[in-house]
This record gives sequence, C-alpha cells and structure tokens, in this order.
Amino acid sequence: MILTEKIIKLSKHYKTPFLLFDLKQIKKNYLKLKKNIDGVEICYAMKANDHPKILQYLAKEGSSFEISSLNELRTLLRLKINQSRIICFNPIKSPEFLEAMAIQNIKIMAYDSVDEINKIAKFAPKSEVVLRIIVSNEGSDWPLTKKFGADAKDALEFLLYAKKKGLKPIGLTCHVGSQCLNKDNWVKALHVYNDIWIEAQKRDINLTLLSLGGGIPIQHTKPIPTINEIGQVINQSIRKHFKDKTNSLRITLEPGRGLVGDAAIMTTTVTGKAVRGKEKWIYIDVGILNGLMETIANFTYQLSAESTGKKQIVTIGGPSCDSIDIPFNKISLPKVNIGDRLYILNTGAYTTVYASTFNGFEVPKIYFVNS
Ligand SMILES: Cc1ncc(COP(=O)(O)O)c(C=O)c1O
Repeated sequence: MILTEKIIKLSKHYKTPFLLFDLKQIKKNYLKLKKNIDGVEICYAMKANDHPKILQYLAKEGSSFEISSLNELRTLLRLKINQSRIICFNPIKSPEFLEAMAIQNIKIMAYDSVDEINKIAKFAPKSEVVLRIIVSNEGSDWPLTKKFGADAKDALEFLLYAKKKGLKPIGLTCHVGSQCLNKDNWVKALHVYNDIWIEAQKRDINLTLLSLGGGIPIQHTKPIPTINEIGQVINQSIRKHFKDKTNSLRITLEPGRGLVGDAAIMTTTVTGKAVRGKEKWIYIDVGILNGLMETIANFTYQLSAESTGKKQIVTIGGPSCDSIDIPFNKISLPKVNIGDRLYILNTGAYTTVYASTFNGFEVPKIYFVNS
C-alpha cells in the first residue's frame, strides 16, 4: 500500500496507533499468486492477520485457509467458511483441537513425528496427513527451521508409519522461511519432494498433495524476488520433477505475509524525545510489545515521517518500560517533534496478531479503505 496524500488525510481521522488496510491490495496479491503459479490453490495462513473482514474478503475471492489452533477454527466456522476449504499445517496439535477438526470433517493436517501420528490416529483417525519436511531457509529474513520438520532421510519411515496406523499419507509440506528472499529455496524443496515422492511410490504410497508452504516476501528495505520470478522457478521445478503427474497433483501455497503484509500502513505518534550520551532518541506509541514484534529479531520496516526536516540518526523506543522495546536502532529520519506522526509501511502481517497490552499500551486498531 503506497503512502499517498489521500491516505495521510484519511489517517488524520483516527487516534494512533492504528493500521489502515486496503482490501484491494489483498485481492491484487491473491490474484497475482494465482496467475503466476500454475494450478495453485491459495490457503491463507490466517495467523498473519485474523481480522474477520480480511477472512471474509478472501473467502469471497475463493481462498482456502490454513489454520493452527482451535480458536482459528472457531473463527472460520463463525464466519460460515466451508470446512472443505480448511487445512491445518501446524505439526503439533492438541487432542481437543484434533477432535474438533474430526467433528467438522476437516481431514487434511500436517505432522512431523511418530508421537503426532499416534495422537492423530487416536483423536482424528480418518485424517489425511501431510508430512512436514525440513528444507533450506537460507536467505529468509524470518527462518522457521528450529522447531518443526522431519529430516528428508526419515520421510519414508514416517509415511509408512502413518499408513500402518490407519491414516492416509497424501502429501508433503515445508516452509522455506518467512520473508524468503531466495527463490532457490523452493527449487531445492521441490527437488527433495521429488526424491521422497519416488520412494513412496515404490512402497505403494501415492502422494498427491504438494504444499509449497509460506515465505512469499513483500517489499521492506531489501530487494525481493518478484512473484513472477518465484512463480517461474516453481512452475519449472514442478514440470521437471512431476511431469507425468501434474494432472493428479493438488498444489497448495499457504501465504500469510505475501497476501496481507503490504496491504496496510501503521500510523504512530511521537510521544517523547531524549538525548542519551551522544545518541538522539525518540519514543513512539507503538513498539515491539504492542505491534512491532518482528523487529525483535532484526526485522525492519520502512518509515516515513510527516516532517520534512533535516535528516538525523535516531534510535526509536516503543512506549513500554521494557528495555527490549526498541523497534528501530540508529536509523535516518527527518527531525521530528513531539506530536508528529510517523508511518510504518507494509505492516499488515504479524503485527497486531503478535501484540500484547503490556504496561497498558493499546494494540493498534484496524481500519479499512476500499471495504
Ligand atoms: C505452517 C505454516 N504455513 C504458512 C505460514 C505462513 O508463512 P508466511 O507468512 O511466510 O507466508 C506459516 C508461518 O509461520 C506456517 O507456520
């Protein structure tokens, strides 16, 4: 979403901090992904932003949904989103959540361990399971390899064990890392998938669901591959490795950030200023704990100031009293005054959903244009 004079004018109506969302940008992102990845089914990873208006809007466009928890399931059911459009790729699920999915006839879910297979077999025995594989996250700004995923060399064993327990192993999933700047991660992942697919076939397991995961990047401060470039390498790899099977494949992509990240701008107000030693500081009404959680791990956003004053180097503190609450370190910004507004660009994903009201500071409200 581009910061225009119109958006700035509209923003004046609201008290900060807040997110202003453009639903049309979400539609643009959705259609672009559909156009550039052959035969893909988009399953929105609603963890990125679970605002009902966004979910309803995407449902209207034809999107499916990827969920991780019972509450996410309840939200979709409340919105009357059909169960056939819901999949769950969280590899570790509570028994309660599994039972709820079984009741709703939601069958497609991920796993990455023997214990999870045992649990699914017990609480959701009719499930169709998708094995999460560890793949390269090299060059992704938010790597996701530490917690989930089976080693590719153990994949066949996991597929056979799922079958033995009466489940239906139907495919593979992975995550190339969120904000993935390296399109080769998908190429490598599809190469790994191909090897597993062939071994599985030899043992009478015919996989059909090929999940490309999340990772679609949006523009922040570094160069990113375009959707067209990502689509090209994915399409080429699928044609290369799965050429005889493309008709029987169900190809899914589970983008979170790539659908909603660049559809919103966060507006914040400068609430204080200080000079500490030689360092200039400013303080704003949103920080790591109430809306900018991803900046905790060197993730950064583009900032735009209302003022056009001389540029200076400043560190920006969030509103809370915690010392970790420093969302921007030594960045260049025009000189600002207390009461001025700052605009933090492309903040639609993983901002309000990660936020707490620690210290009594409000989570940014969400408003919409083009709704
Ligand atoms: C299983 C799964 N799928 C999809 C996503 C969405 O990733 P992204 O926001 O990078 O598109 C995530 C994010 O954590 C995830 O865990």
